[in-house]
Amino acid sequence: MAMAGLPLAACVAFFHLCLLLSPSSSLRLLPVAPDAAGESTGRNGSRTAYHFQPAKNWMNDPNGPMYHNGLYHFFYQYNPDGVTWGNGNLSWGHSVSVDLVNWFALDAALQPSRSFDANGCWSGSATILPDGSPVMLYTGIDARGDQVQNVAYPKNASDPLLVDWVKPEYNPVIPVPADIKRDDFRDPSTAWLGADGVWRIAVAARVHDVGGATLIYRSKDFLRWERNADPLYLAHAAGMVECPDLFPVSEPGVEVGLPASGAGARHVLKMSVMDTVQDYYVVGRYDDAADTFVPEDDEDCRSWRRLDYGHVYASKSFFDPSKNRRVLWGWANESDSVSDDLVRGWSGVQTVPRKIWLDEDGKQLRQWPVEEIETLRSKRVNLLIPEVNAGGVNEIIGVMGAQADVEVVFEVPPLEHADVLEPNWLLDPQSLCGEKGASVPGSVGPFGLLVMASGDMQEHTAVFFRVFRQNDKYKVLMCTDLSRSSTRDGVYKPPYGAFVDMDIEAHGGIISLRTLVDHSVVESFGGGGRACITARVYPDHVVNGNSHLYVFNNGTGAVKVSSLDAWEMATATVNVLPDGLIAASSVSRAQAY
Ligand code: FRU
Repeated sequence: MAMAGLPLAACVAFFHLCLLLSPSSSLRLLPVAPDAAGESTGRNGSRTAYHFQPAKNWMNDPNGPMYHNGLYHFFYQYNPDGVTWGNGNLSWGHSVSVDLVNWFALDAALQPSRSFDANGCWSGSATILPDGSPVMLYTGIDARGDQVQNVAYPKNASDPLLVDWVKPEYNPVIPVPADIKRDDFRDPSTAWLGADGVWRIAVAARVHDVGGATLIYRSKDFLRWERNADPLYLAHAAGMVECPDLFPVSEPGVEVGLPASGAGARHVLKMSVMDTVQDYYVVGRYDDAADTFVPEDDEDCRSWRRLDYGHVYASKSFFDPSKNRRVLWGWANESDSVSDDLVRGWSGVQTVPRKIWLDEDGKQLRQWPVEEIETLRSKRVNLLIPEVNAGGVNEIIGVMGAQADVEVVFEVPPLEHADVLEPNWLLDPQSLCGEKGASVPGSVGPFGLLVMASGDMQEHTAVFFRVFRQNDKYKVLMCTDLSRSSTRDGVYKPPYGAFVDMDIEAHGGIISLRTLVDHSVVESFGGGGRACITARVYPDHVVNGNSHLYVFNNGTGAVKVSSLDAWEMATATVNVLPDGLIAASSVSRAQAY
């Protein structure tokens, strides 16, 4: 077996990976720097156990996720020198995985090194060419400070780890156009092939006097690119937009990968809007002959649906051919202070990879943690409580509360008692969640979970639903209430909220909630993944005590609990090996330590 040079510890942790390695891609293990080793759990125990994060330093956007030769590759915006964003030296961190759960850190794939990216390698995407080899498109901040689009190819496409990347001399392939400011032009998408055999990419820009735009460039060879006269989408009022993602969703419930074209192929366009720091998406019709996209919803992207109604930005998806699914990642920034980041030695995590698909209603995406996450489920607690009475709180005992996966199915009391919805509440579910937090009693709800709770309940994060009546229809509000999440000062604790787009009456009054708790992450999926809310939490009690989990009901009607399963989650191997070593590819590659 070709395991030459790979130390035993790495092979134990990455058995499948060892099988794939050739002697030429041997790894060496570097002792972890003291600041990272000492911070394996981080200040206040906030380092995550199964969310993706580098061993140390700053991370923001997901970049170029892809599946290639049996391995998942994940790249990310990375500051190799510190815990802040690090304008000037942003690089592409690089990790590989066989299962999207355990990740093995490699050297940065792209670092500022040439005139066309001297001031940073910013976000971009991977495209798998018809011969199976990948190509990266990324934004370089060039020596003059202009944002330009570059390509990079693997030095050796048969290296399973794709450790070395070559930036051709002819970069940039797309300089900043005259009608766009030098710092408003970035984030090339994955390329797709039109029926005419020509590649297209979307690039984010702000066009002078016009607005935020998703531009389309076409090319036959990834070298010469021509801009379409009309953008794919123009957001007049939105200002700069970032990280566009366009992908087909032809059949509700079944995903297809790019390229996809032809009559009737429906697509999703996602944009990250800088003004609001939110990711919005819409389903629409993309016509690859005319390169036009017609949203099947409001024109203004800021009223589109959000991928996550919590603290997630700059998301990116990729098509996973090994499981015929589309998988999404998103960046969840820290919500406490920079000085806390400095103490911890790291900043930024990714959401769990989520499978996404078009709901049967044809309008909204559904999201669900990839099934591989379930391999981490260890101790299981199945709570048999027929119902939670008004004002009731039941503890879920038997799992480590800071590292858990909880799935609960509720059956609500008779809906006709639901509180009446005021029409303007529909416009701002976030404020509504602020006004009507978990401690404000209602008729049908609030009911849900209290997570990351201290023994004395001084600290807890509530994830819950409330049902309202509007004429003869019902609206389900989902909230994550952070107001009591931490007793520490200087922590951002907003309310988060969304209306779950489902007809609860037609569902027999049944609604599900799944919450992944991971130290400083509370990532929730309401109504089978119709609304997602990711929050960052920093409770003080975890330094000296345990976190508790509860199911609660603060509505006047009893809520039935059809099922409640909670699992303690095992710690995944994410970029830090269990023996305290970080794996990194060898620079010389010939030597193994
Ligand atoms: C989004 C973003 C991108 C840019 C990158 C730089 O968070 O601003 O537009 O490429 O981050 O790190």
